[in-house]
Amino acid sequence: MSNFVEDILKQPALSKEDIVQLLQTNKEERNILFKHAAQIKEEYVGKKVYYRGLIEMSNICSKNCYYCGIRMDNKNAERYDISDKDILDAVRFAYESNYGSVVLQAGEISSPKFTKRITNLLKQIKELSNNELGITISLGEQPEEVYQEWFDAGAHRYLLRIESSNPDLYYKIHPNNEKHDFETRLACLKSLQKVGYQTGTGVMIGLPFQTYEDLANDLFFMKNFDIDMCGMGPYIEHVDTPLYKHKDLLMPVEDRFVLTLKMISLLRIIMKDINIAAATALQAIDPIGREKAIKVGANIIMPNVTPGMYRDNYKLYENKPCTDEEAEDCTNCLEMRIGITGDDIGYGEWGDSKHYYKRRNLSGN
Ligand code: 5AD
Ligand code: SF4
Ligand code: FES
Repeated sequence: MSNFVEDILKQPALSKEDIVQLLQTNKEERNILFKHAAQIKEEYVGKKVYYRGLIEMSNICSKNCYYCGIRMDNKNAERYDISDKDILDAVRFAYESNYGSVVLQAGEISSPKFTKRITNLLKQIKELSNNELGITISLGEQPEEVYQEWFDAGAHRYLLRIESSNPDLYYKIHPNNEKHDFETRLACLKSLQKVGYQTGTGVMIGLPFQTYEDLANDLFFMKNFDIDMCGMGPYIEHVDTPLYKHKDLLMPVEDRFVLTLKMISLLRIIMKDINIAAATALQAIDPIGREKAIKVGANIIMPNVTPGMYRDNYKLYENKPCTDEEAEDCTNCLEMRIGITGDDIGYGEWGDSKHYYKRRNLSGN
């Protein structure tokens, strides 16, 4: 029984039809998929999880993505912008806790002043950590010169989700205007790769209007783009957003959750040596959601180190976890959580994407 999954997985490569079929597997069948992905993870990247201390610097955003709780037009979002001093304190916490890397994330702002501010922060992060902290940034679409400036200042990984690789679906979840242009998003991803970043992207799973075929195409998009890292998570509707009106089209959150685990395991199977994050949105649905993702192929976790008083305001979606906690609380909690998965934590290590080094013919750390 269930052997069709084993048969599909025995093939040297998966077709789009195979993936569409695997995305629809039932409970017993999908466990075979999950096991297979876990084996591949162990073989190619080891049973190890790397930390990226996440600092959500500011929820001020100049865009209006239809799904996002901090979109510019949401008047109910209380805006904040953490001072450089508080950001650097959070960085120091991550450094002293041996997290190995940090991520700076913010709503999308593009201005010379913002560019400079980030450049200075990057240099200070390098300085305060004696060059030891790895730095990922996730600051949206920017001109290539800006990506270059930040790269030169010390950032070496960049996350920019494509959200959906299907342009039709992209324009159902974004306004169709210059500020939300699918081609620009693609061009930005290309620039990041060209500048030399470890380049990460990802999609939301379980969006209204999204089909299994869309999701299979998303996986092939990532493969063809030759990405180094991925962060993808379930779509979670937010009441203060335009996409909320389509909530009746959604599958139950539990199904979006399982579908995300399947996407993670399939991506691990088709891109064996990349870094895959266990998205925080998984934990908004299941209290041990991120741990489940680690069990089926993910190898990166982004503990939130944003000072507690701001956490509740970076609400992209409802039910975001750890919003009442301080960074110290998450450290202990996570260590225990990851212990349960059986993986080790790569304390103090960068845990760079092995795929990046292979792609660039470099030797990694
Ligand atoms: N549900 C899930 N993920 C979301 N994001 C934004 N809004 C939502 C939502 N409602 C994700 C997007 C974005 C990342 C920062 O958060 O994929 O790229
Ligand atoms: Fe801004 Fe990003 Fe939210 Fe879009 S998804 S509104 S760019 S924070
Ligand atoms: Fe934040 Fe458990 S990981 S409280």
